[in-house]
Amino acid sequence: MSAQEQVVIVGGTKGLGRLLAERFIAQGHAVTVLSRTKPDGGLAYRHIAVDLEALVDAAPVVEQVVQAGGKVRYLVFCQRYRGTGDAWQGEMQVTLNATRLLINGFADQFCDSGDRAIAVVSSVYAQFVGGSQPDSYHVAKAGLNQLVKFHAWGMGRRNVRINAIMPLSYLKDESRRFVESNQPLMQLYHDFVPLKRIGEAADSANLVEFLCSDKAAFINGQSIFVDGGVSVVWPEELARTMAGFN
Ligand SMILES: NC(=O)c1ccc[n+]([C@@H]2O[C@H](COP(=O)([O-])OP(=O)(O)OC[C@H]3O[C@@H](n4cnc5c(N)ncnc54)[C@H](OP(=O)(O)O)[C@@H]3O)[C@@H](O)[C@H]2O)c1
Repeated sequence: MSAQEQVVIVGGTKGLGRLLAERFIAQGHAVTVLSRTKPDGGLAYRHIAVDLEALVDAAPVVEQVVQAGGKVRYLVFCQRYRGTGDAWQGEMQVTLNATRLLINGFADQFCDSGDRAIAVVSSVYAQFVGGSQPDSYHVAKAGLNQLVKFHAWGMGRRNVRINAIMPLSYLKDESRRFVESNQPLMQLYHDFVPLKRIGEAADSANLVEFLCSDKAAFINGQSIFVDGGVSVVWPEELARTMAGFN
């Protein structure tokens, strides 16, 4: 692997993004992470501080990333809006506008050969509705899926694949203790998920790793659920089971 190439992870300091940074580093990639705040301690990746809420022109960020680490092999989007302002404006900007600006900005900066891909972390709420997230999250994630389809043609012609993953709620380091100690919540996931458990960040990381590898060389423009099969269950079946009719 050339020293002058890298994996770029947008939102790679926490949760799934942090796990992915560790995974790509373990594979031997140089990794650059974009987020607002540099984590404490020695980092095994390069961190570039960017507030996507304020991003209107991706060019300076792209230039900084490429100057520091060279061409891009894989570009992964793990960010979501985590601000305190207006949720609609924030989610549209951080999730949708920033992803669009960065995809366009990096379009000419991918490696010239070998496998190249973009992976976008979307959500089950791109296709389904639920009260645990606001309207902005639903619309922004749905927009991401369509953005992925749009770029599957243009980026595909450049031999850069692009796919999305749609996870159900998952356990991550930051939430594991709280969620696992909530027995009724764990039981709920046992009861409604066909595979009888809540997801793990590792389940989603596995799919992103696959999509960012030559094993996925002919997969392009797809949005794939990581939900233990929840999305294929007819609600009547679920309602009957939860009500004790089955
Ligand atoms: N958690 C779940 O159960 C779940 C389920 C389905 C889908 N997802 C999706 O999975 C992805 C990762 O979620 P997560 O819960 O694992 O991680 P997370 O805690 O939401 O981490 C978000 C990342 O984005 C960065 N970020 C947030 N606002 C930013 C901004 N304005 N500018 C730059 N970077 C910013 C954060 O770093 P800084 O704070 O340093 O900026 C952090 O690295 C998200 O897209 C989320 O919607 C999560």
